[in-house]
Amino acid sequence: MSLLITGGTGYIGSHTVVELLEQGDDVVIVDNLVNSSTKSLDRVEQITGKKSVFIEADICDKGAMRRVFNDHNISSVIHFAGLKAVGESTQIPLHYYHNNVSGTVALLEVMTEFNVKNIVFSSSATVYGENNVSPLVETMPTSATNPYGQSKLMVEHVLFDLAKSDPEWSIISLRYFNPIGAHKSGLIGENPNGIPNNLLPFVSQVAVGRLKELQVFGDDYDTVDGTGVRDYIHVVDLAKAHLKAVIALDKLPGCTAINIGTGNGTSVLQIVNKFKEISGADIPYKISPRRPGDIATVFAQANIAYDVLGWQAERGLDDMIADTWRWQSENPNGFD
Ligand code: NAD
Ligand code: UFG
Repeated sequence: MSLLITGGTGYIGSHTVVELLEQGDDVVIVDNLVNSSTKSLDRVEQITGKKSVFIEADICDKGAMRRVFNDHNISSVIHFAGLKAVGESTQIPLHYYHNNVSGTVALLEVMTEFNVKNIVFSSSATVYGENNVSPLVETMPTSATNPYGQSKLMVEHVLFDLAKSDPEWSIISLRYFNPIGAHKSGLIGENPNGIPNNLLPFVSQVAVGRLKELQVFGDDYDTVDGTGVRDYIHVVDLAKAHLKAVIALDKLPGCTAINIGTGNGTSVLQIVNKFKEISGADIPYKISPRRPGDIATVFAQANIAYDVLGWQAERGLDDMIADTWRWQSENPNGFD
């Protein structure tokens, strides 16, 4: 039996494939390469000494997905494939809804046809919206403020309804907080197209001299130093949560949403200072106005992950930043 990993050549997917291969699992990857390249597969093979099966296909293409399920004996799916740029989602919302929502529905339909009813879905802390106070707990009301967040929330509704309609489904929706870091080998890491939107890739590209200066979006929040606080989670810890989730599917019918975070908050300036300390690089920054849609503080309550999956984060901020820096400094232009 194999695990199907959609979006497996991307940032979180490639780190998860490493952990799965090292655990001895057979892995089939489907990715349309819209935001990744097969170079990550070569690196994954270099790290693990093992091969996975790669199929270039779009999850929206039901014919292609049927062939995948026909040709491979799939036991469970880890579904990373999706578009994730918040700003872009406000400009081309239909594309986001089609890819993330219709694409997931198409995948679930094909899974139903082949009687594969186990799936782990990549959700996001963005589904908690703006009105809940951290620590964020899975039972809090959900909402979304942009099409990307809406697409994650809509898929969660689809998954809850599907599980309610058919008790054979086992579904875990992992709500990631802020994934950062890279594999300790320095061979795979986050490789954003164009100017990064997220803090860590931006900081590391400033540190390596690719970008001139960081803009710190607001220093007047009610936080430790006025800058935004987030729950950063090492991508390898996040990858390992997926391995635990796949195991848990067997004994957990229905649909369960689970936070994947550390439970700790770190401010933008704390990140910048730690990055300077670890890299020895200069990180020029200027304080800019708040970014629309940002909130002061977001961090998880991560008890359910421990109680249900037996998972907790093992890597601290020093590892997250040291590993980000190793990846960035050894691959200043990403995989190119
Ligand atoms: P990524 O862009 O590196 O990986 C996503 C992969 O999916 C890419 O390789 C892309 O080519 C592929 N893909 C997109 N649409 C596809 C389609 N229709 N068919 C086949 N492949 C398709 O992003 P990531 O950071 O690894 O994120 C993985 C998942 O986790 C995404 O669903 C994302 O929304 C979610 N997530 C990410 C973060 C984060 O900060 N990175 C936070 C919360 C949730
Ligand atoms: N920030 C800056 N300058 C930058 C980029 C970010 O000061 O150039 C600040 C932001 O204002 C925020 C913090 O750094 O306070 C983190 O910002 P990110 O953009 O890295 O992350 P967000 O918390 O805004 O959002 C991310 C993903 C979302 C996801 C969310 C929760 O982009 O898609 O984490 O998982 F939903």
